[in-house]
Amino acid sequence: MCGIYAITGSSNAAQEVLTGLKKLEYRGYDSWGITIPLAGKLMLERHTGKIGDSLTALPPSSTGLGHTRWATHGGVTVANAHPHLDCSQTFALVHNGIVENYRELKSSLKSKHHFHSQTDTEVLVHLVEEYSQHFLFAQAVATAFRQAKGLNACIFYSSKNDQFVAVKNGSPLIIGLSEKGNLIASDSASLSSHTSKVIYLEDHELAVITKDQVDLFDLNLHPKKLKKSHLNFDHQSSSKGAHRYFAIKEIEEQPTVLSRFLNNYSAQITPFAHKLKPYQLFTFFGCGTAAYAALLGKYYFAGAGFNSDVIVGSEANHFLSLIDKHTLPIFLSQSGETIDIIEPLKHVQGLGLKAAALVNAEGSTLDRLADFKLHLNAGPEVSVVATKSFTAKIASLYLTSQVLAGKSTSAKLHLKQAISSSQQLFLPSYFNHHLKPLIDRLAKHDHLYTLGRGYAYPIALEAALKIKEISYIHAEGFATGELKHGFLALIEPGTPCIFFAPSDQTLADTLSNAAQVKARGGYIVGVAPQNHQVFDYHLPIAAAGPLSTIPEAIIAQLLGYHLALNKGLDPDKPRNLAKSVTVK
Ligand code: AGP
Repeated sequence: MCGIYAITGSSNAAQEVLTGLKKLEYRGYDSWGITIPLAGKLMLERHTGKIGDSLTALPPSSTGLGHTRWATHGGVTVANAHPHLDCSQTFALVHNGIVENYRELKSSLKSKHHFHSQTDTEVLVHLVEEYSQHFLFAQAVATAFRQAKGLNACIFYSSKNDQFVAVKNGSPLIIGLSEKGNLIASDSASLSSHTSKVIYLEDHELAVITKDQVDLFDLNLHPKKLKKSHLNFDHQSSSKGAHRYFAIKEIEEQPTVLSRFLNNYSAQITPFAHKLKPYQLFTFFGCGTAAYAALLGKYYFAGAGFNSDVIVGSEANHFLSLIDKHTLPIFLSQSGETIDIIEPLKHVQGLGLKAAALVNAEGSTLDRLADFKLHLNAGPEVSVVATKSFTAKIASLYLTSQVLAGKSTSAKLHLKQAISSSQQLFLPSYFNHHLKPLIDRLAKHDHLYTLGRGYAYPIALEAALKIKEISYIHAEGFATGELKHGFLALIEPGTPCIFFAPSDQTLADTLSNAAQVKARGGYIVGVAPQNHQVFDYHLPIAAAGPLSTIPEAIIAQLLGYHLALNKGLDPDKPRNLAKSVTVK
């Protein structure tokens, strides 16, 4: 959470930092700020809210530092916005993470330092100010950072010697090497318009960065060798193009993304599946949408005769002791930076066990740490709402399970059917005839329920999340069979209930459950290949066997997206959320 960015050797650092922050805004958009050195002083510009089309008021300079915030400690105010300066306004700091022991550190400084904010961050720049009375800048930063508890990535700047010190433990930090000057950022994508040569800072590493030099150390300032990597990043895929929002661009990209699995089947899916063969048990780890993809993976693997378990990342600690050498842990993540995924991965690898990953962001921490992985190749996913990364995950889990079961031919057919079924959902006629009238009706409700059996159960959960996170309607997903065990009590006349009803062995039970809800006045929306009498409203989708889950998921994404537009909301940057959850 939070995006941090710094540049040297620039003709207009504040403007270039602002451009970098815009690319990092998916990491948090509560407030933003920039600082530049000018005439020996640090000039500061900070604002609450999203960057949007803002321009910076700061004059051109060669060096700059900036931050876009997801508030953890201290409300959304200008005083709590980063960068934070020390009392002498010599040092500046931008931070991503949580300094868990900031109160103790602050109480030891309060008598000598004046604090301007309620943040956990500010204490670190005053600590550096304190230590710089005895040590050089890098030593002062190392000493201060060693005292900070928690997972943090920081960029400090000293206007005295025009130097940056970047240091991390947990949250990502990447250094960009370019002819004009060096850069530092929270992700590689925001560096790619300047360079393709990067250095991924590892945990407990510290780098001293100037316009022409980068020196790497451990936290005791013992020199370390620079490990340079090459970035292959295509800019086109990270721009909105003619689309109004990234969300709809990424939703409509799904047929293309899924076709890649067909083209790369033998190069990607088959080798990955073969790596799984030695294992008897699989444990999937995921958070949010990735956890729902993992749950569907459990169904697909069971269908192929393989036992697996699903663990929600934030609850992993309670189950890690059960992972042994017969079990393969498989970590699912779009961003590859979700802390509740990275920590259990490091734990199982610490036990000497192998770990696999399904990851979209290449060069991310998960991508670099996993022993073997399947790249989702969905391209950059900028909108906070995960869409194409979800269908790429469920397609790859299904195809992998079918390779293990020796049923690749039918699996490829199901994927082809899912791709063509999805394409029909993007036709203007589908929106006008099927989606629009329903959107207008659902937008009037504060509560609605999504239901599914079998493969459609994880889809019902994901559908509720999509609708919740971008339209702010309280949507709740259920296993349809759980109706009579409690939640039927919530049904009142007109209560919208969206039933995902694929034409498989669950259909008969689903239709009778829908009738039980209708009997209590519920308004039945059926997402199904055929219309059925019990449906008050039918959203048709062409069947695709076990991968009917893909057009079902896309329907849910389109409902969430258009409900957000209907309510005048920004589907790319929903309130209180961020794309990559790097703090606990
Ligand atoms: C989904 O739309 C949300 N953005 C969120 O639930 C997300 O799926 C979750 O934070 C996991 O992210 P990851 O796939 O990058 O690990």
